[in-house]
Parts: sequence; C-alpha cells; structure tokens
Amino acid sequence: MAEEGGGDEYLFKIVVIGDSAVGKSNLLARFARDEFDHNSKATIGVEFQTRVVEVDGKEVKAQVWDTAGQERFRAVTSAYYRGAVGALVVYDITRKDTFHSIKRWLDELHTQCDTTFAKMLVGNKRDLENIREVSVEEGKSLAEEEGLFFIETSALDSTNVNNAFEVVIREIY
Ligand code: GTP
Ligand code: MG
Repeated sequence: MAEEGGGDEYLFKIVVIGDSAVGKSNLLARFARDEFDHNSKATIGVEFQTRVVEVDGKEVKAQVWDTAGQERFRAVTSAYYRGAVGALVVYDITRKDTFHSIKRWLDELHTQCDTTFAKMLVGNKRDLENIREVSVEEGKSLAEEEGLFFIETSALDSTNVNNAFEVVIREIY
C-alpha cells in the first residue's frame, strides 16, 4: 500500500482536488511550509510538496499533489492520480457552486484511481463565516452519503489544516 520512501519512512501520495480558487494551493502551502498567499495565482499543471509527519512514533512522508481546478490548465489526469492513496476533495464554503461540483470531482477520482481509500471532504475558508453559503450540516451529510471524512478548514488562519491532512495520513497508515 505504501512505498518505502528511503530509510525508515513511508511515502504516501495524497491528491488535492476541487474547483478553481477554493484554496487547494494555499491548503498545501499551509501544510507544507506554514505559508499563505493572499494573491495566489491559479495553478497551471501539477505541483507537489512533501512533508514528514510523525504517526505513532514513525516517520511518514506525505507527498501532496496539487493541480489546477480549471480544466484548461490541468495536466494529464491519469498521471496525477496514479498511486494516490489519499485525497482531499475541497470546496469553498462561500461558493455553493463549488460544493455542487464535489460529486463531479468524486466521479473523476473514482474513475481515475482505485487506490485511494482515505478521502476527506474539506470545506475551506471557514474564516469567512459572514458570507457562508454552505452550512456545516450540508457538508456533513454529503460526506456521510459518499463515505468521506469531513472537516472545515481555513488556510488563512490555519484552522484544521494539519488535522485535515493528518486524519487522511492516519487512516492510510
Ligand atoms: P486553482 O489553482 O485555480 O485550482 O485554485 P486553488 O484551489 O489552488 O486556490 P488558491 O489556493 O490559489 O486560492 C484562491 C484564493 O482564495 C486566493 O486569493 C487565496 O488567497 C484565497 N484563499 C485560499 N484559502 C483561503 C482561506 O482559507 N480563507 C480565505 N479567506 N481565503 C483563502
Ligand atoms: Mg492552485
């Protein structure tokens, strides 16, 4: 299930998917480097970052892949998903349309990849409570329906970002 990442480490590939501008790249930047970019540009192609986390005293190397939400900027999807064991499927709690896209992203995930078994539905931008369009209950019930974990995050103020990744990593591990 996991590849040996050299030495004592396990290497887990995790993909982050969801519509454009939901905050995928900033979730990854927060997790991997504890950074946030207010003016981040749309991702073109594919990027990945790795971070070593400790699970039950063992080092686990999480290799997290990020791609464009916009179709025209996406790279070859089969390569993107290949070997992924975890997935974060992200929407923006202030944009209902990004929540409605989740089923489409799950369809793609299930079509392209039969190795993911830890999947987390992520409602990002929870710092923007005042302009929320998707309730916590809606998120929860979709997650239940689809058999996903569920969490709300803020890449801006860091809320639950590490948690989101760590739940997935633990489940894989
Ligand atoms: P694509 O690469 O086009 O698929 O977009 P993306 O999902 O990677 O979005 P990105 O991380 O580039 O963020 C889009 C915008 O939302 C940027 O202006 C970010 O600063 C902002 N943003 C990301 N996360 C949060 C968050 O948690 N809260 C708030 N308030 N803004 C956020
Ligand atoms: Mg991006």
